[in-house]
Amino acid sequence: MSVDPSRVGVIVVAAGAGERLGRGIPKALVRCAGRTLLEHALDGLLASGAAEHVRVVVPRGDTELRAILAAGPARYQRVEAVDGGASRPESVHAGLDALPDHVDIALVHDAARALTPPSVFQAVARTVAEGAAAVVPAIPVSDTIKVVEGNRVTATPDRASLRAIQTPQGFDAQTLRRAHAEQDRYGVITDDAMLVESMGIPVTVTEGDPLAFKVTMPHDLMLAEALVRQAQEVQAEAVQAGNPAQEPAEDAAK
Ligand code: C5P
Repeated sequence: MSVDPSRVGVIVVAAGAGERLGRGIPKALVRCAGRTLLEHALDGLLASGAAEHVRVVVPRGDTELRAILAAGPARYQRVEAVDGGASRPESVHAGLDALPDHVDIALVHDAARALTPPSVFQAVARTVAEGAAAVVPAIPVSDTIKVVEGNRVTATPDRASLRAIQTPQGFDAQTLRRAHAEQDRYGVITDDAMLVESMGIPVTVTEGDPLAFKVTMPHDLMLAEALVRQAQEVQAEAVQAGNPAQEPAEDAAK
């Protein structure tokens, strides 16, 4: 089943300071193999064809990310910038308010998960369209995870039941709007699915992708650079062999 993209809005949160990356600029502006993390994030999202409405939430007062969006390729026409807030939930809320009212499937995506493949956006949107109120992409964890209080281990959950949760997270838009309207009732919120869980609404898991890792620390950026450069080499070899991967139609026309 493919989902009508006019029903789907994606909020790309890119308003974080990115302090752990240590570059002194917003993370979405950090360059990875010559292009910003925001541009890489939009590549996967727009190539998926999953959504007609994209809102990129940028730091309040930002001019650089806005300039990148304004000067971007034709496929950025469906992308609009929105001012973010002091916390991730506030930024998501701002993006949600900026989506058209008729959007009934809302995806929330971290710009920092810059290499998320198109298939993840498609699977999440499809699972919501099939009736799930909330959907999170997940991958198994490879570390043993322990619960710690102070310097004391208090529990070791069974690893087989643990998952690392990625974005895009997908929601029936009404549910996400309601969750955000009620968010003051809840404590620290690290993702949107957590709000929906707190409301007692079931959250469905789909398959995530290791490439959807979040660029947080300097070594994450090094990994992302290596992956992008490798993909560029594969593409260059394919061009030489007369067999390039398909480019998005609007870009090819440029
Ligand atoms: O800080 P963390 O890496 O968890 O942020 C996840 C995502 O949330 C990033 O893409 C970041 O840009 C975004 N964010 C935001 N507004 C904030 C804080 C974080 O859009 N105030």
